[in-house]
Parts: sequence; C-alpha cells; structure tokens
Amino acid sequence: MSEGKLPENVPAQGKDLPIREQPPPPHPIHQAQKVTPYEVSGGVDENGVAIAINYNKLVEEFGTKRIDKTLLEKFERVTGHKAHRFLRRGIVFSHRELDMILDRHEKGEPFFLYTGRGPSSDSMHVGHTVPFEFTKWLQEVFNVPLVIMLTDDEKFLYSKKGLTQEAAMQYAMDNAKDIIAVGFDIKKTYIFSDLASMDAPFYQNVNLFSKAVTFNQIRGAFGMTDSDSIGKIHYAAIQGATSFATTFPYIFGDDKKRVAKIPSLIPCAIDQDPYFRVTRDISSRLKYVRPALIHSIFLPALQGPGSKMSASDETSAIFMKDTQNQIKNKVNKYAFSGGQVSAEEQRKLGGNTDVDVSFQYLTFFLEDDAELERIKVAYQKGEMLTGELKQICIRELQTYVKGFQERRAQVTDEIRDEYMRKRKLEFRNNPNPVNGTDKK
Ligand code: TYM
Repeated sequence: MSEGKLPENVPAQGKDLPIREQPPPPHPIHQAQKVTPYEVSGGVDENGVAIAINYNKLVEEFGTKRIDKTLLEKFERVTGHKAHRFLRRGIVFSHRELDMILDRHEKGEPFFLYTGRGPSSDSMHVGHTVPFEFTKWLQEVFNVPLVIMLTDDEKFLYSKKGLTQEAAMQYAMDNAKDIIAVGFDIKKTYIFSDLASMDAPFYQNVNLFSKAVTFNQIRGAFGMTDSDSIGKIHYAAIQGATSFATTFPYIFGDDKKRVAKIPSLIPCAIDQDPYFRVTRDISSRLKYVRPALIHSIFLPALQGPGSKMSASDETSAIFMKDTQNQIKNKVNKYAFSGGQVSAEEQRKLGGNTDVDVSFQYLTFFLEDDAELERIKVAYQKGEMLTGELKQICIRELQTYVKGFQERRAQVTDEIRDEYMRKRKLEFRNNPNPVNGTDKK
C-alpha cells in the first residue's frame, strides 16, 4: 500500500459519516524488527510504540551463538585477563567461532583483528567508540595486529545526500584521527581508506570474492532490489575481502599458502554480521580460513532502545566533538526516561532501568560494577529521581568525551600518516603458548 492511502475497507475519516458512527482511527501498521547494516529498528507495536531490539531473536535469525558463561570462563583462563565490562554485562553478547580463536591463542597460533568505520560525518559518535574501545582491549589482551578499514567507497555509494568521493575521503581522514584517539598501539595497527589505498593483492581478493558470490546471495543478506546500483551490490566483496590475511602481504608476508590460513577476528556491532555471513559461506571455496566474529549490541539512540544511535540522525547522537554543554543539553532534552511522570509517582513506583536511556549509557561507560548496581537499585526503588540519574549520566559522558578530545588534540597529520602507511607491524602473539604447532 502506498503511503497515505487507507486500506479499501476503511472509510476516510470525517467523510460521509455522522460523528457517532465514525470508526476508530485505523491501527498504525505493526512493523517487525529489522537489523541490517543500513537499517536498525526493533519494530513498532500495534499502538505505534517503538519496541526495544530483541537480541535473542537476532541471534536465532542470524545463526550466531550467545557468549555464555563457559565461553567467558575460557576467555579469562586462556588470556589471563578479567573479562572486559562489555563482556561481563552482555554488551558484547554474540560470536562466531570465538572459541576457535581462543584455541589458537592458547597454542600461540597467529590471527589478526579486523574492524572498520564508514565515514559518513566528520566526527564519530559515542556509539561508534564501543567496538573500537573493545577492539583496543582485545589488541592489548592478544598482542596481535589490527587492520582498520575506512569505507569511504561504501559511504559514497550509499549516500542519499549527494556525498562526493572527495568529501567521503576527507571524512575518512578526520575519522582516522578519532579512531587513533581511542588509543591503538601504532606498532600493531594499520588504518586505511578504501578509495586511497586499494592495491593489487587487495583487488585480487575482491575479484575472487565477487566471482564466488551471486546477486541472489547479496539480495538475501542485504535486501537489495533490481534498482540498486551495481556499486552497492559489489561493495560486499570489498568489506568481505578485507577479512583475508592475504590482502595484506606487507603485514603477513608473501607466502600465500601459509598466510591463507591466518584467520581474522572481527569485532563489530551485530548490524555488520550480514557481510561476514556471506564471507564465511564462500571462504573455503577461495581456500581461505573463515573469519571469526564477536558482536556487540547497539548503544541506543537518545530517544530509546528501539533504534541505535546514528550519525545520520543528529538528535539521536552524542558526537565525540560535542561540547560539555551540548552533552548536558542533549541528555536533558532527549534522553528517554524510564521514570514516572512525577517525582511523587517515581518515589512510589520506581523507574524502569531496562528502557531508561541514561541508565543504559551508564552500563556502557561506568566501569565500577558496584556503583552501577547501587544506581540500578536506587532508581528501581524510587529512591533516585530521573533528574539525578541524568546528572550522573551527563557527568560520565562528559568525562569520557573530554578524555577523548584531549587525546584527539594530540593526533597530528604526521601521526595519522604513520598509522596509514603500508608497513610491517610488530606483534608477538601469545608469548607462552600451550602445545603450539604453528607459532609465528
Ligand atoms: P559504521 O561506521 O556504521 O560503524 C562503525 C562501527 O560501529 C558500530 N556501530 C555501533 N556500535 C554500537 N552502538 C551503535 N549505536 C553503533 N553504530 C554503529 C558498527 O557496527 C561498526 O562496528 N560498513 C562499516 C565499516 C566496516 C566495518 C568492517 C565495521 C568495514 N569493515 C569490519 C566493523 C567490522 C560501517 O559503515 O560501520
């Protein structure tokens, strides 16, 4: 049904009917949950109310695995590190073959980390820093090389606002500084822009990939239509080909047979999974080892847990370039509250921390487990009011963004150019392997 048209059996309101006989307004159409790299929504119920994203359903639909207690224990045992707060709190919640990566780490066998960013604005938002913060921690824990892809080509191809290639490339250069400010080890990290750096080995893998994948597979994974540009359809080959170590001979060497067996571990939010589902499906045909993945949930939009914080909706996001005042105003004005309508009601009934955006943000950024629990209980019991919870959230976000901005100010063009130079990286993998067979 096209927009604005009523179903045939519903008479147009106010027309030809006496007031008392008017039917109730037509129900807004219920919308199902939809999560792709280009659309994230928990759906809308019969009353037109946004529904929180159901991550259990996504795990089922996508065919990934939940990170359970046993795997977390294995993670801690094999790495000797206490699990990151994202893991402890189920923010990083799902995976594909993380257990295989842990086995390799235990044996001192090589693997690498691969993540990325689609530069669609000059500044990243706090949601984008979630996979990057986590990737930084993984790099420290595993001591492995990391490649970070800036998909200026993707953002150009998908732009509905006429973004030029030149502007997308400039965003990539700006975003590279944001990413560096997260704190990656320069000796182990290579950052690259697709449009500025694709070379022969990279293109050869893209070409291999594109021959192995049909339009049907891409349509199934991303919901493309016949009128989408061939660039969009083909782009999956570029994001997928980066999962293979042979794309980076300057990091892993020229011995293709050996390098083909080095897997990547890809940290990302769950929206990026479709790319790598396709990649995993065709890897063995290319005689490459499949990439493993580790997925996070989304930092919600300020408006609530039904959608993700997104750079394309300014009011949904706290940007890493926002001033302290902008952060305060955005949280006070937009952050969806799980509290009651009045202070009196709140004291009586307490608030709902499951949907309260300020509380949700604290679960991402407040390190102290005991303090988080104290806030949760106080808010649920009505001992804490919404205003107070918002103040705590504002303070945490301001501290987080301020620390980031101080580090960002230190990132010169020269430092960025060094991260973006094709070069050998220095890494050791696990220095104390158990039963190692293939130590690099
Ligand atoms: P992009 O720029 O949309 O997002 C960059 C990374 O941030 C994640 N993300 C979020 N995480 C938590 N909360 C949010 N609200 C939120 N919004 C986005 C994304 O999942 C992603 O991990 N096509 C990609 C770039 C890319 C990539 C990759 C990402 C290329 N190769 C490999 C991850 C792994 C993109 O446009 O990301």
